[in-house]
Amino acid sequence: MPPRVRVSLTARNVAQVRSRIERPEVPTGDAEAEDRLTRSMRPVLPTQLPGLRAYIEARTRFFDRALLRACGTGVQQVVVVGAGYDGRALRYRQPGVTFFELDHPVTQEDKRRRLAELGVEAGDVRFVPIDFGHQAPADVLAGAGHDPDRPTHFMCEGVTPYIPLDALHATFTSLRSCAGAGSTFAVDWAEERPRADVLRRAVLGVVRLGTVLVGERIVTTVTTEEAGDVLRAAGWTDVATERAGGYPALLSLARP
Ligand SMILES: C[S@@+](CC[C@H](N)C(=O)[O-])C[C@H]1O[C@@H](n2cnc3c(N)ncnc32)[C@H](O)[C@@H]1O
Repeated sequence: MPPRVRVSLTARNVAQVRSRIERPEVPTGDAEAEDRLTRSMRPVLPTQLPGLRAYIEARTRFFDRALLRACGTGVQQVVVVGAGYDGRALRYRQPGVTFFELDHPVTQEDKRRRLAELGVEAGDVRFVPIDFGHQAPADVLAGAGHDPDRPTHFMCEGVTPYIPLDALHATFTSLRSCAGAGSTFAVDWAEERPRADVLRRAVLGVVRLGTVLVGERIVTTVTTEEAGDVLRAAGWTDVATERAGGYPALLSLARP
């Protein structure tokens, strides 16, 4: 995989669409800081396509629910895999919970610079640069103070389509190796041969064309069975995969 030199434009777009969705907050969180981060960026790809918001909404609700549920059961480490401009570390900040953000260094640096320029306090977030094509998350997380013996909630939103299967296998195997008992893993997938209706497939086509135009081509799509197989081959168990409403996307929840 050639090294990427540009910030992730798909990450900016997802953040823009997500910012229009009504979402839970926690009393100690800073949802406003997340909004300010998003407002500091301009979308490059279309964000108003019919059905796009509803699809991102279904996905967002799944990831928000899984994260808040994990923290509600006492999990104190959250790893956001391929974080982009996701603001959950700010929105869902809570005492005793450490957020680790893994992302490609170019995008992560841009995010950190923006947060600093906006005056957003993010000193509690552990920003961990990585390239999933060449590095093992467990190694870089250990260097950032992640404790593999304690439970962690891992979340990987909107990332698998951009990573080849062999690198996904290595990444998920490494994450499993640092997932203490009681951990959870939420991940979504672009669906192979989606059974969505014509309109939703058309929107998907436009989205996929856009990703090609910005140099972030979708390389991995899976069926429900394949999603489970990828996770189980990496050592994850209790895999439950659902379709994101009527959208051509799959949502999986797994345990170590
Ligand atoms: C579509 S964005 C999703 C961002 C975020 N999870 C969200 O939902 O807002 C995909 C993210 O995956 C990251 N990514 C893609 N390939 C990567 C790689 N090989 N190594 C590290 N990060 C990668 C990009 O930098 C980007 O932030």
